[in-house]
Amino acid sequence: MTPPRKLHIKSYGCQMNAYDAQRMVDTLAPEGFVETASVDDADLVILNTCHIREKASEKVYSELGRLRAVKDEAARKGRHMNIAVAGCVAQAEGSEIIRRAPVVDVVVGPQSYHHLPQLLARAKSHGRALETEFPVEDKFGFLPAPRPDAIRARGISSFVTVQEGCDKFCTFCVVPYTRGAEVSRPVAKIVDDVRRLADNGVREITLIGQNVNAYHGEGPDGRTWSLGTLLRRVAEIPGIVRLRYSTSHPRDVDETLIDAHRDLPALMPFVHLPVQSGSDRILAAMNRKHTVSNYRRVIDRFRAARQDIAFSSDFIVGFPGEAEEDFLATLALISQIGYAGAYSFKYSPRPGTPAADMQEMVSAAEMDERLVRLQELIDSQQSAFNAAAIGNTVDVLFERAARNPGQIVGRTAYLQPAHVMASPDIIGQVLPVTIASLERYSLLGELATSAQAQGAPATFSPMTTSQMTTGA
Ligand code: 5AD
Ligand code: SF4
Repeated sequence: MTPPRKLHIKSYGCQMNAYDAQRMVDTLAPEGFVETASVDDADLVILNTCHIREKASEKVYSELGRLRAVKDEAARKGRHMNIAVAGCVAQAEGSEIIRRAPVVDVVVGPQSYHHLPQLLARAKSHGRALETEFPVEDKFGFLPAPRPDAIRARGISSFVTVQEGCDKFCTFCVVPYTRGAEVSRPVAKIVDDVRRLADNGVREITLIGQNVNAYHGEGPDGRTWSLGTLLRRVAEIPGIVRLRYSTSHPRDVDETLIDAHRDLPALMPFVHLPVQSGSDRILAAMNRKHTVSNYRRVIDRFRAARQDIAFSSDFIVGFPGEAEEDFLATLALISQIGYAGAYSFKYSPRPGTPAADMQEMVSAAEMDERLVRLQELIDSQQSAFNAAAIGNTVDVLFERAARNPGQIVGRTAYLQPAHVMASPDIIGQVLPVTIASLERYSLLGELATSAQAQGAPATFSPMTTSQMTTGA
């Protein structure tokens, strides 16, 4: 028997990339590859790149420079190491990578991961291989299609891709170019994946997609299903106790999604709903297709359906032409909404996007200063949100043993890590925890009742509005 070959994947960027990394592992497992945490003893290293912000390609080339030394060292010991570049930089600059980095054997775009075994074989026979075409013949070919035996559970919480690509064309964003047009997977395939994961012990599913609530997949009844309808179906699958989805666009929030939040206890009351800016002028320049008041109305509809709902968002500071008053409008919106957390970024021009040609760049110093101010406000909201849990009893889905001996860690509805001293038997259960204190971003508490600690079924108990508001 040939010894297993070792695979090391370094993944950057979004949840989709994290999920894709697992998919690559699954695709390569039947070829005899097993994962290794160490790059030095790998037979295949995959850089799973992200192109969304800042000098991504330069980072890839410098990482490749480091890998060349590792590959040379392996060669000196008589071992051949393959290097592949995957992800959105591969998609955007495939042939440039082949030209500039002779150390690379395979370049593979996100739509072609299921061809990795063939690409490795082609690299072996022809020296190098490149595949970054968007397949036209099979519009679902590039979507996660691991063989039935390849989906393996990896703990309690798992992602499932339901759509890929985006048709929104925000002027700053590369996603419509690197991930292509929006395509949804059929409901039956998603339900199959979730069932298999549930059978393997997964209790929480996050449906993911670049624009997840643009989902419009073929339903078993032959009609087109929305995300809200899909969530209803997935909630029926035995074993699944928690559902989430990410990332949503405010324009694509329809009544079925709002109703799903009203009706499905398993659908967690925590929504990532990026707004990017609080200025209508900048939102128009970004081609976001919504105004500030549209966004506020969407938030109000969610809140009316489920009072304990909380939100996170993405913000870009320093978009071309952003004046101080636009930025102040963003701070005002944040204060009004009251977020449980947010990601914030300095604008960086992405080659090929419309905003990259816009004049009126905001200076680096101003961007830095705005980012600090925005993050201070978000941090204060996040701290208040977390502190509001102290003294309350909240439901936690336990995921694994923590680093501290005897401690088990799980997550609240709002993805806050929560630690308790308990037996590992509780892993996979949702149990009420009385929160005693907050340590950085982590909640510490005790199981609320010993009966439940011994495994009695937990009931769902949403936090009340007063427990989660952040002063908005
Ligand atoms: N510059 C800065 N931030 C960006 N994002 C996307 N493109 C850019 C860019 N060119 C941010 C947006 C998006 C998140 C995933 O990354 O906030 O929601
Ligand atoms: Fe990019 Fe999101 Fe805009 Fe689509 S909706 S173009 S993924 S920022």
